[in-house]
Amino acid sequence: MTHNGQGRAQWSSRLLFVLVASGSAVGLGNIWKFPYMAGSGGGGAFVLVYLLCVLFIGLPIFVAELYIGQQSQANPVKAFEIMHKPKTPWRFIGLLGVLSAYLILSFYSVVGGWVLDFSYQALTNQFGSLTQESIQNILTALFADPGRQIFWQFIFLGISVYVVAQGVVKGIERASKVLMPVLGFLLFFLFIRALFLPGAKDAVVFLFVPDFSLLTPKIVLEAVGQAFFTLSLGIGAMMIYGSYLNKSENLLKVSFLVSLLDTGIALVAGFVVFSIVFTFKFQPEAGPALMFQTLPMIFSKMPASYFVAVAFFLLVAFAALTSAFSLLEIIISWKTEQFNISRKKAAVIAGIFLFGLGLLTAMSTNILSQTTIFGLTFFGLFDKLTTSVFMPLGSILFAVFYGWILGPKAVKATVDQNKGTKYFFIVFLWLVRIVAPGAVGIMMIKGLFY
Ligand code: PHE
Repeated sequence: MTHNGQGRAQWSSRLLFVLVASGSAVGLGNIWKFPYMAGSGGGGAFVLVYLLCVLFIGLPIFVAELYIGQQSQANPVKAFEIMHKPKTPWRFIGLLGVLSAYLILSFYSVVGGWVLDFSYQALTNQFGSLTQESIQNILTALFADPGRQIFWQFIFLGISVYVVAQGVVKGIERASKVLMPVLGFLLFFLFIRALFLPGAKDAVVFLFVPDFSLLTPKIVLEAVGQAFFTLSLGIGAMMIYGSYLNKSENLLKVSFLVSLLDTGIALVAGFVVFSIVFTFKFQPEAGPALMFQTLPMIFSKMPASYFVAVAFFLLVAFAALTSAFSLLEIIISWKTEQFNISRKKAAVIAGIFLFGLGLLTAMSTNILSQTTIFGLTFFGLFDKLTTSVFMPLGSILFAVFYGWILGPKAVKATVDQNKGTKYFFIVFLWLVRIVAPGAVGIMMIKGLFY
């Protein structure tokens, strides 16, 4: 079934929904961002806070977002009008989501472009005689060159616009169906390879033995932000994917599955990256460059290293693309339904805006590297503003809307889909009403102002 009878697209099955939702969740956030944030945040303590946030905060909010989408069957702005009342002020959360999607996708597409550039380097065998120095040189040259970054950003956006313009089922679902399983397979392969590196043991200690003296309010907020970023929460991405879901689908089950997959993949990617870091003595605090400096190293001294390197970077690119689809879908669903324009037109217009906005990120590592706002480049600013402010804020408001405005009836309906017990209902209700929004609120205030 691909339509719900009113002409609105619908995912073909539960399994495919889990695949596309994981496609949104699993992306640069897992393979690029999680390792470098854990690296700068001191390792184990950051990872522990992140895991607790996924379980007690991320999951309830995941369910809340899906529920609002699923029951309204509308874009994130209209969803609030349908669930509450026309012109409700709650619709501004939806608009904040659209704005955040623009900001995130503008820098996401540049980093996605770096991955495409690295895929190309691998394809043309530039990693053949690999040393730490030669990788560093490739990266430095890329960062210094706005033209090259803009070129690849354009390609990345072009592919995203093309796929999403084809439609929810014919574009997003069809692409994810192929890309996601291959990604899982390749990551598994790298995991096995990393297990045999001498640095593997240190990687496990670094990621799983916490040193709490390293935890500052700022790092705690970063871990919360990372939990939202990686699960695609707080800006309506899951809401819009939920809106193409059958109204009776069991949300607790799918949310749990997707979160589990997403977290597992982040941990595996972190393990792979840090095994290389400790084997070749890289700096864990290298920041956004970390994945790019480390990963090519695993391919050296490996049989068929050429093919593995090409395949790997292409797959990171695919993971990034399936996430970009959901970011773009937030914008496009809103544009088409609000302004009554065609999907193709909305996709192209969004692409043009995103390309323009993305130039600021592509120039953040060169021409505009000295131009800072609050001490951050445009790239840093867009990242911080969305990850540490808009996503947590949006998430608090989604939880409040679901837990208080729609209230116990909605929460009960969700729990009933899963045949949950009365006790589970009570625990879940108060997680959504108080624990999740309260904890995020406190962490935001502390992290931003101390
Ligand atoms: N979750 C994606 C990742 O980890 C990023 C993303 C954020 C996608 C928000 C959609 C919405 O890369």
